[in-house]
Amino acid sequence: MLADLEELQSTALEELARASDPEALEAWRIAYLGSKGRLKGLMPKLKDVSREDKPAVGKRLNEVKVALESGFESRQGELAGAADDGPGIDVTQPGTTLPSGRRHVLGRTIDEIVDIFGRMGFTTASGPEVEDEWHNFTALNIPAGHPARDPIDNFYMGEQEGSRTLLRTQTSTVQIRTLENEKPPVRIIACGRVYRPDTHDATHYSMFHQVEGLCVDRGITMVDLKTTLFQFARAYFGPEAEVRMRPSFFPFTEPSAEVDMKMKIKGEWQWVEIGGCGMVDPNVLQAVDVDPEEYTGFAFGLGIERIAMRKYGISDIRWLYENDVRFLDQF
Ligand code: DAH
Repeated sequence: MLADLEELQSTALEELARASDPEALEAWRIAYLGSKGRLKGLMPKLKDVSREDKPAVGKRLNEVKVALESGFESRQGELAGAADDGPGIDVTQPGTTLPSGRRHVLGRTIDEIVDIFGRMGFTTASGPEVEDEWHNFTALNIPAGHPARDPIDNFYMGEQEGSRTLLRTQTSTVQIRTLENEKPPVRIIACGRVYRPDTHDATHYSMFHQVEGLCVDRGITMVDLKTTLFQFARAYFGPEAEVRMRPSFFPFTEPSAEVDMKMKIKGEWQWVEIGGCGMVDPNVLQAVDVDPEEYTGFAFGLGIERIAMRKYGISDIRWLYENDVRFLDQF
């Protein structure tokens, strides 16, 4: 009986390993584990076993049964796994789109501005946001006691080497920083943050961005200034854009003008004031040891938010700084 059990187990498991599809597996189950199968077929033989051998043979019988059953289950599992073609992905289904980030609308506006002026030969320059009074005022022909220096209009920070420091209120500081380090011909733009203690509303924020332009060389005139601004307007706002200059006053330019650009807003061409400009004041050139008898220059400063807000139809400056993805996602 024990020998029969050994033989049954080994042939059954060999055959099981060869069962390669569900039908063969089912046939195997019927042949070995079925009610008329070979295992059941051995049962009647148990009564011929001697009394003292019975416990051992009974135990072995049970072990063989368990071995066949678990072998069957694991073979069933193997065949089910093999029948499954791949991990269940339908490659023809559209994929899940993951939200992708992008650069801030102001950053991209700055890139476009840098690109357009770059094509006209302007390189980029920069300066610190924490400035001293020399670069923010004095060298720009804004004398001590001038109302522009009033603490009510400036973020004063502290003192450094006997001079007050402040968050720069204009990128015109970079005109001075550039001319202190480079001799003409100079042709630069500087894009960056400026700070003013304004109450926040739809058109004011205590921090915003400007693009400063400076060109100093022999024989530079207002014509060069207007042409440069005009070419920028055409490149940025489109072929029908125009530039208008209205007489104005800035301490660092003489003559000075406000710059308006005609741009398309909601399908209509409109004049929008976007900054100031002028011919660099001789006092400014002298402050940085450039001879105003030999060199002349033009300068301009434009508001980047104004440019971007008009171009994209953004009606509230605060949205630009709130980092609300629902807003930023639109540009
Ligand atoms: N710095 C001026 C401002 O913040 C703008 C400006 C006007 C810049 C005339 C210039 C300029 O370079 O020539 O209001």
